[in-house]
Amino acid sequence: MPDNVGRYAHITGWGAHVPARTVTNEDLSQVLPTSDAWIRERTGIQERRIAEEGEYTSTMAIQAGRAALKVANLDPSALDLVICATSTPDYLMPNTASLIQDGLGAARAAAFDLNTACSGFVYAVSVAAGLIKGGLYDRVLVIGAESMSRVMNWSDRSTCVLFGDGAGAVVLEASDRPGGVLASKLGSDGSGGDLLKVGLGTRLPITEGAVARGETAMTMNGQQVFRFATRIMNEATREVVEQAGLQLSDIDLIVPHQANTRILAVAAKQLGIPEGRVFSNLQRFGNTSAASIPLALVDALAEGRVRAGDHLVFVGFGGGLTWGACLVEWSYGPSRQWSPGQRALRWTRDRLAQVKRSLHRLDRRLAVAGRRRGKGAGEPWDGLGPGEG
Ligand code: ACO
Repeated sequence: MPDNVGRYAHITGWGAHVPARTVTNEDLSQVLPTSDAWIRERTGIQERRIAEEGEYTSTMAIQAGRAALKVANLDPSALDLVICATSTPDYLMPNTASLIQDGLGAARAAAFDLNTACSGFVYAVSVAAGLIKGGLYDRVLVIGAESMSRVMNWSDRSTCVLFGDGAGAVVLEASDRPGGVLASKLGSDGSGGDLLKVGLGTRLPITEGAVARGETAMTMNGQQVFRFATRIMNEATREVVEQAGLQLSDIDLIVPHQANTRILAVAAKQLGIPEGRVFSNLQRFGNTSAASIPLALVDALAEGRVRAGDHLVFVGFGGGLTWGACLVEWSYGPSRQWSPGQRALRWTRDRLAQVKRSLHRLDRRLAVAGRRRGKGAGEPWDGLGPGEG
């Protein structure tokens, strides 16, 4: 679909949040038949963050979202839409994006989850950019957030050493200034669905037997996924660069899904670009699925690897099988400067949104409690809402 003339989707804010608890390879080798040497050599991972009790996909996402809104100097009530890319939602229902929308106090925003596993962030940015360019929304918060540790089989050394938890977020805003998300290429091949699977869902009842057999935890055919990942990173990157009318030599930095340093090295070779132009931080976080690209982006910005006018490619691949690439012309330097007055205004509006959210929640609780009192013990429910009947 051609872009609406004169409307562009710029990334104006970014932020990340990871749990405080670090689990090193050495820690894992105390409880599993593995070693720091094997994990480092075969994957590049040195440590990962693991959510503690009371930390969930939504709580990490809210922190990352808040950080991104701060960089964009936006208060939550300015958001039109929240998209949460995740394959580890808090619940099957309600959706995690609505929990985030409520947690942030984004009272005006619509909210939905998007599950394409490790490609989720690229899919979500593409959808957000499309909705902005099409004129439907002006400000969208996209979050990739995962609690991978909660779906691991912790006795399967071939998967549990690979993954970690965390969240990363970006704010996309409409502008008439050219730049931002220039092109997107998304894909899927469901015939490979069994290669990477978490069996939690309505198809497999959660029985004790299913849990004991590890059927509700992550299973992966690592070698097949490895082959798919190297091929698709190369193809998707080439396709999105061509779609944007650019050359591979125009790309300043590739920010890929962080699964394995060997995948990144093979892809860099196939693309004919120096490994230094493929950003990697999986040493510190492991594979955080949909959170990995925004976590890498935030680190790349913090390391001064991204400047205004740079061309970036986000490229992801994973369960589904799914894949996607976005080409972004970066709009700002590594940090955005706001005057003290602008910051104070946003802070005040942010607090106001929190207060409004608290009052709204209190109002809902009182309504539920009042209704319960109205329907005393022994009184059958009439199935009608307040004022009905
Ligand atoms: N520690 C020690 N040994 C191990 C471990 C471990 N943690 N895990 C496996 N091994 C052993 C295996 O048992 C095997 O032993 P054997 O030869 O005696 O049978 C040996 O190491 C080699 O195993 P391979 O599976 O051949 O190892 P490989 O080099 O393929 O690496 C890995 C495995 C890291 C999983 C790799 O295949 C990979 O990275 N695949 C891609 C994963 C990926 O990219 N996922 C992305 C999508 S994720 C998402 O969408 C949610």
